[in-house]
Parts: sequence; structure tokens; C-alpha cells
Amino acid sequence: MTARWTGPWPTEGIAFGADYNPEQWPEEVWADDVALMREAGVTLVSLGIFSWGQLEPAQGVFDFGWLDRIIDLLHENGIGVDLATPSAAPPVWLHLAHPEMLPVDADGLRLTHGSRESWCVSSPIIRHHATRIARVIAERYGHHPAVRMWHVSNELACHNGRCYCDVSAAAFRDWLGKEYADIDALNLAWGTAFWGQRYASFDQILPPRRTTTIANPGQRLDFERFSSDAFVAHLEAEAAVLREVTPHLPVTTNYMVMGDFHQIDYTQTTPLVDIVSNDHYLSAEDPRGWAELAFSADRVRGLAGGEPWVLMEHSTSAVNWQPRNLAKEPGQLLRNSLQHVARGSDGVLFFQWRQSRAGAEKYHSGMVPHAGRDSQLFRDVVELGATLGRLAEVRGSRVEQARVALLWDTQAWWAAELEAHPTVDLRYLDLARRLHGALVDAGVAVDVLPAGTALDGYDVVLVPTLYLAPQDLSDRLTDVVDRGGQVLVSYFSGIVDASDRVLLGGYPGAFRDLLGVRVEEFAPLAAEGTTTLSDGSTGEVWTERMTSSGAEVIATYLDGPSVGGPAVTRRDTPSGGAAWYLSTRLDDPSLADLLGRVLAAAGVSSLVPSPGGLEVVRRTSGSGSWLFALNHTSIDLPLHVSGHDLVADRRHEAGTDVPARGVVVVRED
Ligand code: GLA
Ligand code: GLA
Repeated sequence: MTARWTGPWPTEGIAFGADYNPEQWPEEVWADDVALMREAGVTLVSLGIFSWGQLEPAQGVFDFGWLDRIIDLLHENGIGVDLATPSAAPPVWLHLAHPEMLPVDADGLRLTHGSRESWCVSSPIIRHHATRIARVIAERYGHHPAVRMWHVSNELACHNGRCYCDVSAAAFRDWLGKEYADIDALNLAWGTAFWGQRYASFDQILPPRRTTTIANPGQRLDFERFSSDAFVAHLEAEAAVLREVTPHLPVTTNYMVMGDFHQIDYTQTTPLVDIVSNDHYLSAEDPRGWAELAFSADRVRGLAGGEPWVLMEHSTSAVNWQPRNLAKEPGQLLRNSLQHVARGSDGVLFFQWRQSRAGAEKYHSGMVPHAGRDSQLFRDVVELGATLGRLAEVRGSRVEQARVALLWDTQAWWAAELEAHPTVDLRYLDLARRLHGALVDAGVAVDVLPAGTALDGYDVVLVPTLYLAPQDLSDRLTDVVDRGGQVLVSYFSGIVDASDRVLLGGYPGAFRDLLGVRVEEFAPLAAEGTTTLSDGSTGEVWTERMTSSGAEVIATYLDGPSVGGPAVTRRDTPSGGAAWYLSTRLDDPSLADLLGRVLAAAGVSSLVPSPGGLEVVRRTSGSGSWLFALNHTSIDLPLHVSGHDLVADRRHEAGTDVPARGVVVVRED
């Protein structure tokens, strides 16, 4: 699925560095920058991400001098460059010449320039100019020895993810014309018989602009697909230019697999990049933010097909775009960084090198803070660089394939969160995150995979709220249970077809036979409501009125809207496999308990015997294995492996503590 990069990695060891924006500073500062980079052990910087306006101050008028000088300076100092195409920030002259390139929101309001990423992805203007400037840059710098990788644009679809202008409308109609054999097929898929929305021809269709009440869900789902595809096409167009001019360089684009972002179906982009990279920012006020980080990193590794990837951006300390931008605690910078490495990243980069003096992000931390070199933050950065230097031997190893797979899917996410569903309390990623968190807490390794990934080799497959399931998934899950594996499917999975039309005859239409259950009605709970199950578990948010048709009832509802009926079921197969069904959102302890039973049935246990609170991950290669252990608690916790700890650079005997809030990386004996 992912293009595997067989050329050299951009750096010798684990890449360490940041977005570097020298154009924000007078040239006198550059020498200091490079000296500090050397002190910190920086090996790679992303350059030029927002520099289009400086590089091409007027159409066809170029100012390369500054970029020539900084690339040479970096090269003289042994620092590699991840050179960006600058399409994330079109110059003002381009916007003024082509205001029609600015995006229009669902209310018909055309946005103005003055920020960044301010273009309609369907605009032929931006496509023309973005590929034009990409070629200019590739031809001028692509063979410079400092340049190690291409960074296409920036976080595609981050700010301008959806555009509803007339150009987008025409492109949407073209896209639909290719998706559907004819207008009748579209009418059927979208269910336009409802509310008399029937279309006589493709010409009549608009993007789902603001309308009176609930918009057609089929139209909205297709608009998500169309918009995502448009960004994929943009990536493809820029990448094609870069590959044509510099086939020797790997191409990446920084994903945003974090939090709630789901504007792009990244599975469509992985074949277009050589190295997967991701940006991740902690939700600072979330006490379990580190667990979300682990989930994000595992999703990225799943997208990368298990290959090493690059953490392209995170923050040394506070960001500036959350409601309350908490500074990182002592030790957190190291822990966050090594968590990503543990889960497969061979790079630790930041936004940004030097904290800006002016502009929108001047209160966002950097590697060099406003206080300058004489600061605890810079000392921490230097220490991180030294630690990553000692971890160089880990580069190129892979996170050991887990026995547990957890499936997720962007199409399901789009469809599950359309409006007018049974309850506002059900969010697509909620259960996936909580299951992942429970596995991390139990020290059990898990691969988080796009739902289309092959499931060979997995003994446990978790399928949380996969509302719209790939068509072949039921067969693939049946194969898993038939060969003795355990499958756990949750509520609101397998409900609709690819067009968001309900699969009839009892829910979940896609998985009834696999699970041996038949749900007649969804019965969500009132706000803050709970329900008690016969095994003592507590359910929240959601229940279902269902019957078993061949599955054993593990727990029933003792109260609530589905009282008396099955709540958790299991259909056993002759080979010792089982298909479990969970029809309510269990609270944390109950979920951990159920998961424990599923894991026990498969004989899956923790990676190393460890008390709760230690996050453990193993990376292996032909030359060794490295056990990462991160202590997210405020007490010291023992780790029962022995070898050499690369963080403290000393021997780690089995049973020695991982210090509170500390991390060890043990090259195992
Ligand atoms: C109103 C409308 C109906 C239907 C129902 C749904 O009564 O007239 O068409 O939308 O609401 O509750
Ligand atoms: C994103 C962007 C960066 C910067 C950071 C701030 O990751 O790519 O340019 O804005 O957010 O956190």
C-alpha cells in the first residue's frame, strides 16, 4: 500500500530538528542559529514552507539569494534540508490577481487573504502556480547536497479543507459523473426520493451549501470524498513535478493524524509519498494526552504499513492555539519525543526552530525560546539531541508486529458523524481511543490499521463503531474467527452501505451472521444516563434492543431501555475462535475487564510483566531489540528486562525502576 523508500534515510541517525524560518530573522542571526543547531545536534530542518512571498516577490521575479546562502550555510555545518514546496502560503500578488482562488464557505462567504492556506483546492489557478513554483525550486535546489527530502505544502486541508465556490461545484459534478453510471444511480445512492430531492441531471447538483435544515447525507458524504480526493490530486500534482526533476529524493507531506482532524482519507495519499510524516500536538489540558499521542503514533505507523515514519512537527513546550496553552512539565519533552520514536518514528522534529518575534505564532514554543540559549528549554533541547544521538542504532528497526489489531477508517468517521443520528453523545473515535488506551495501560502491543488492511497474523481484531464498513470486511473477520482468532465488534458498526443507506433486516447488517445477533432498535440513554449489566459492568450513552441468533449471551441489561435483553454476546467457532459483540459504551473499568477476557481467550498478554502506568513498546531489527518504557506516573516503577539503557547510558538490570515521569530505552541482552 505504502511506497517503500529504498533510498537513503534523510539523516544518518534519528532525524532531529525543526521547521526553520530564517526569513523571519536578519541574516546576522543565522550564524547563531547554525551554531546553536550544532550544539543541539540538529540534523534536519524543514525550509521554505511559507517562503513563497520572499522567493517570488512579484510574478516571475525571483529572489533566491537568501535561500542559496542559508542552504549553503546549513550544508557547511552538516545539517540536512527537508525542502518545502511553498504552496501553503501563496504570495499576496497572486491572491490580488486571482481573488477567485480564495475559498468560499458553506454560507457563501468568500474568505480573504492575510493568513495562510487560503485557496480553493479545485482552483486551476493554484494548481498551475503551485506546480510552477515547485518546478522552479526543484530545478534550482534539487541537486544541492544539503537537500535530503521534499516536504509538499503543509498539512494539506488543515485550514482550507472544504470549499463551496462555483469552481468547486463544477469539479464536484465532474467527480460525481465519474462515480455514478448515470443520474438515476446517484438518485438511488443519495435517496433523493426523500423530500423530493430528485435530480434530473448532474448540472443541477451543488455542493452541500447551507440550506434550511438537514442536508442530504449522501450528498454530504460524497462531498467529503470529493474534497479529500481533490487534496490527494493536489499532492499528486506537486509530487509528480518533484519526482520528474529529482527522482533521487524522497517525497513526504506532513499529515495531521491527531485529535479530531479527519479532512483527508490518508489511505489515498500513502501510495503518493515515499516517507510518511506526521504532525502531532498534545491536547495540553487532557491528563491522558500522552495516551492520545500513543494512539496517533500507532495510527501513523498503520498508515505507513509498519515502515519507519517521521514526526515532522510537535512542540518543545506550549502551543498558542488552544484555549489554555500549558507549558510542558520537566521531562515531558523527552517523554513525548521518545513515545513517538517508540511507536515507529525515526525523526523528532518541531515547529519551530527559533520562536518567532512577531506574527501569529509568537507565543508558540520553539527549540530556541525568546529567552535565548540561556534557558532551561534550550538546555532540555540539547539534552534531547544528545539522547537521540545515543538512540541512533534504533533507526531502521520496526515496531514488532502486534497480535492485536484495531481498525479505523476515515470513510466510517465521515459517515458516523453526519447529522441527525440517534444520539449526539456518540463520537466516532471515542471507543477506538478508549480501547487503545486500555491496551496501552495493560502493556499490550497493538497495531492500529486502516480497515482495508489485511488481517493475517492477528489473533485479536477490534472493530469499534465502524459505522460504514468496507464491503469485504465481514468475510475477512469471518476468516479470523474461523482460524481461531477473537473479533470484538461494537455498537454502531456495519450499519450502512457505502452510500450511507441502512442495511436492512436488523442491525448490524454487515455483521449479523458473523456475530449471531440481530438488533431491532437502537436505544440510546439520556444525558449522563447509565445502565447496569448482569456481569456488574456499567454502560453509558447507548444500548440496543437485540436478540441472539446463535451467540452466547455473556451479559444482559438489568435496567434501562433495553432491560432484559442481551448486552454482550459471543459466537464461538469450532476452531476456538469467537466473534464478540458489545452493544453499549462500557465505562473504563468495565471496558478493561471485557478486553481482558477477549485477550485471555486469544492468549495475548503484556509485552513484559509490568505494573500499570508503564507504557512499553518493543522495536526490533536484524541486529537487536529495544524495549521502550515510559513512566507516565509520579512513582518509580520496576521494569523487568535487562540490557543497556540508551537514555541514561548505563546498564539496566531486570527489576530496576523506571523513574517517575522518566523513560528508559533498553537494548535488550
Ligand atoms: C415534522 C415534518 C415531517 C418529519 C417530522 C420528523 O413533523 O413535518 O416531515 O420531518 O417532523 O419528526
Ligand atoms: C501546524 C503547522 C505549523 C504551525 C503549528 C503550530 O502544525 O504546520 O506551521 O502552525 O501547527 O502548532
